[in-house]
Amino acid sequence: MTTEIKESYLQSIFAERIGGARFGKDTAIYKFEKIKRAKRAAMAANPAVELIDMGVGEPDEMAYPNVVSSLAAEAALPENRGYADNGVQEFKDAAARYMERMFGVKGLDPVTQINHAIGAKPALAMMPLAFINPGDILAQTVPGYPVCATHTKYLGGEALNLPLLEKNGFLPDLASIPEEKRARLKMLYINYPNNPTGAQATTAFYEKVVRFAMDNKVVVIQDAAYAGLVNSGKPMSFLAVDGATEVGVEIHSLSKSHNMTGWRLAFVAGSSLAVNAFAAVKDNCDSGQFIAIQKAGVAALDDLTIPQRINEKYGRRLKLLVEALNSAGFSARVPAGTFYLYMKAPRGVEGGPTFSTAEDFSQWMIREKLISCVPWDDAGAFVRFSVTFSAKGVEDEKRVMGEIGRRLGSAKFIF
Ligand SMILES: Cc1ncc(COP(=O)(O)O)c(C=O)c1O
Repeated sequence: MTTEIKESYLQSIFAERIGGARFGKDTAIYKFEKIKRAKRAAMAANPAVELIDMGVGEPDEMAYPNVVSSLAAEAALPENRGYADNGVQEFKDAAARYMERMFGVKGLDPVTQINHAIGAKPALAMMPLAFINPGDILAQTVPGYPVCATHTKYLGGEALNLPLLEKNGFLPDLASIPEEKRARLKMLYINYPNNPTGAQATTAFYEKVVRFAMDNKVVVIQDAAYAGLVNSGKPMSFLAVDGATEVGVEIHSLSKSHNMTGWRLAFVAGSSLAVNAFAAVKDNCDSGQFIAIQKAGVAALDDLTIPQRINEKYGRRLKLLVEALNSAGFSARVPAGTFYLYMKAPRGVEGGPTFSTAEDFSQWMIREKLISCVPWDDAGAFVRFSVTFSAKGVEDEKRVMGEIGRRLGSAKFIF
């Protein structure tokens, strides 16, 4: 078997949205590939040193045993074997209960206002199919998760970036959207708690979003992939704000808050019109998640101790990480939500290198300190540390954090 890609006329007929005839010929190396290569080189050069990987954005542990045993039982039942189409009612009912018990969102109709999805990512990919015509605009926060914007562009729409700045609490400035763009603006994508900044929204911000959406006839897509993971205040939902269920949807995922990343289970909740349009599109894209997984999802959503226990672990690790970074001269803070710590990248090291971008700093961290984090240069130079690194219990977590403090402590950073 050869792994080489053979030349053929297929190269000349690729769609423009993926680069047309140039598809696959791009020689630029992208951020995550650069990180991968730097990690490989650092490990080869320092085989005896542990590489501390704080770059991975997914849970380090399995789903909880009650959820796994529910899947085992449901997978054995013949009635769960077939196409799930737009989902089983039991999962939608559990999602409505979860929204009320976890976020205080009362009165969602589990028949018309909730639909399952095979993860938040495909739901975000499908939403533009329901709203975007060529020339329409989606506004998205940056840095961020670009899937909704990518598909908007695939459909001939445009993406408008709203920078997340520290001075605004990493909330977008909706007033900055120019008047001339508003006529074509159809969708607003936001994500709180936010990846990568770790910021949480406020009720006042969500109220502003609802007013903005109504005034400008825009649908709001609030990506709540990290909604269960908060370090200050209570978990909150956009749908708890008056008018939210008229202007948009919130997308919840079991990937992060329930350690069910590979299971692929999420739900879209909110406006019945938007949910119905999403369901119509989805019905033409997939045939639903395995029913046994949806039923195990019921067990997961009904057990509120799962997100609580997961959250406790990340909160503990985030505190340790802040102590380790601050002992090395940084001014890191525990984020309001998510398992990410986002902090300004230094400009250099006294008597050492200078960093013109966050990417320069992260490459140096991997090469010289064998600590991997993800750089973001979209709105200032920042790096993101994820506390989903592998550790075998609390003592091991402390050991890893102590090691970070020691490795960085010898450098005097310039900010
Ligand atoms: C902001 C955000 N939204 C959505 C997702 C995807 O979630 P899912 O696993 O449900 O597809 C991620 C995953 O990293 C994410 O960070």
